[in-house]
Amino acid sequence: MGEDRVLTRRALLVGVGAAGGAGAMFAAMGALGLAPDSQTKDFVPPRPSDFSLSGRAAAKVVILGGGVAGLACAYELGKAGYDCTVLEAADRAGGRNRTVRGGDRLTELDGETQTAEFEEGTYFNAGPGRIAPWMVTLDYCRELGVPIEMFVNNNASAYVYTQGMTAPIRSRTARADLYGYVAELLAKATDAGALNQRLTKDDRERLSEFLRHFGDLGPDLGYNGSTRRGFETYPGVGDGIPIPAPSSLQDVLAAGTGRAITMDFGYEQATPMFQPVGGMDSIVTALVRAVGPDRIRTGTRVTGVKDLPDGVEVTHRGGAFRADYCIATLPPHLLARLPHNLGGPVTAALRTPVPIAAGKLGLEYGRRWWEIDDRIYGGITETDLDITHIWYPSHGYHSRSGLVVGYYNSEENAELYGRLSHGERRDRALTQGKKIHGEKYRSELRSSVSVAWQRQPYIEGGWAVWPSYTGGFTVLQHPAGRVYFAGDWLTRLVAWQAGALESARKVVTDLHSRVLQGTS
Ligand code: ALA
Repeated sequence: MGEDRVLTRRALLVGVGAAGGAGAMFAAMGALGLAPDSQTKDFVPPRPSDFSLSGRAAAKVVILGGGVAGLACAYELGKAGYDCTVLEAADRAGGRNRTVRGGDRLTELDGETQTAEFEEGTYFNAGPGRIAPWMVTLDYCRELGVPIEMFVNNNASAYVYTQGMTAPIRSRTARADLYGYVAELLAKATDAGALNQRLTKDDRERLSEFLRHFGDLGPDLGYNGSTRRGFETYPGVGDGIPIPAPSSLQDVLAAGTGRAITMDFGYEQATPMFQPVGGMDSIVTALVRAVGPDRIRTGTRVTGVKDLPDGVEVTHRGGAFRADYCIATLPPHLLARLPHNLGGPVTAALRTPVPIAAGKLGLEYGRRWWEIDDRIYGGITETDLDITHIWYPSHGYHSRSGLVVGYYNSEENAELYGRLSHGERRDRALTQGKKIHGEKYRSELRSSVSVAWQRQPYIEGGWAVWPSYTGGFTVLQHPAGRVYFAGDWLTRLVAWQAGALESARKVVTDLHSRVLQGTS
């Protein structure tokens, strides 16, 4: 980069900063590509005062899609007085952030409609269900006054069940055995000199010391079981009755519990995680309230987008809408089908992310048998059956009834369930879950609702993934004329609300800086 360009940029930023304050300066930095990579810490929302000395005025913005990205754009731009209108095809805002309650109706693309028969107080987070503490989603919860509570993402008392097991085992047992045997193998290999080339004597001693703790090994460096595995009867006045001795190393490896016990190792899933109290859609409710419900036009299906020299024209089923700028937040595969004049590279980019099927089933029970019989308070049972996971509720402990997520799957498993009617999905999932929880899993069921996101109108996918974060991904980080793009699919946080929010912040920053600079 040439020195004169640096000076020009610096001069511009100093000018913008003096005229518009920090918010305007950060906005301009974002547009120039100088803002730090992470928007979370450094995002400064547009403010009315940003306009006071610049002689510019807030613009009129039409936002396509009333999901979390679209609502966040309207919310942040609205802080500075932008005149935002959100066009949403469905009869409700929120997109994939959907909490189903008694009386709610869910219609799929083939026309099947389910009506939730849940009792008062029962809810089913059919879309997002958990939030990591580092995610910007929690900042929005704080700012919008959405109370949060712990989401139990890892529960040692939940089960692991893989095909071939005669009965499920507790997660703590699976973990103790796998850690124990892995530690034994490594400790004995170290002791036998297998690592002498790699490690000094001191390092080998440190490693052995760690492995003894990691696997709860005996003095002979053998794994011979451990109280970590849990008990049939837990200690009290008496010693307790341990569960029978572990299977052999070979049997433990053959059980294939590795995936199950490492689910929460990644930075996205590590505990603690959180959820809004009363349902994930509390975030949507709060955003809608903050944006102003009159700015959100539900039941308005967009049919075309035209970029014009002095604005944008969006056509929809009920007519046309003119604005200065547009932010398109629909899923990329739906945007790609929309008639527009944004050019071939934009269409090609929009066609690149691959929509992924995802499904969830809510099972309402009149008795919280998982707490009473199984001592499971929240958390997730992992299985290689096609249901993949069973989630237990992280709220309402000890209340009379509750809702278990009977499957949460994606890709082939979700496609398989998605092809079935709701009744068939439920029956199939009950047959699978019964292998883990027994007959009560079927007999005590009160009602159920399932969602196949790939069959949800105006959404048509659980999420969309980029084969690579180059090419089209980069193209759509920039506006096509006056049309911007936002959504979780434009971040590395695909399938997280945090992605939608980060993307919204980026686009708001870019658009605001453009308006302040007065470049059309
Ligand atoms: N965000 C998705 C989940 O929590 C992928 O499972």
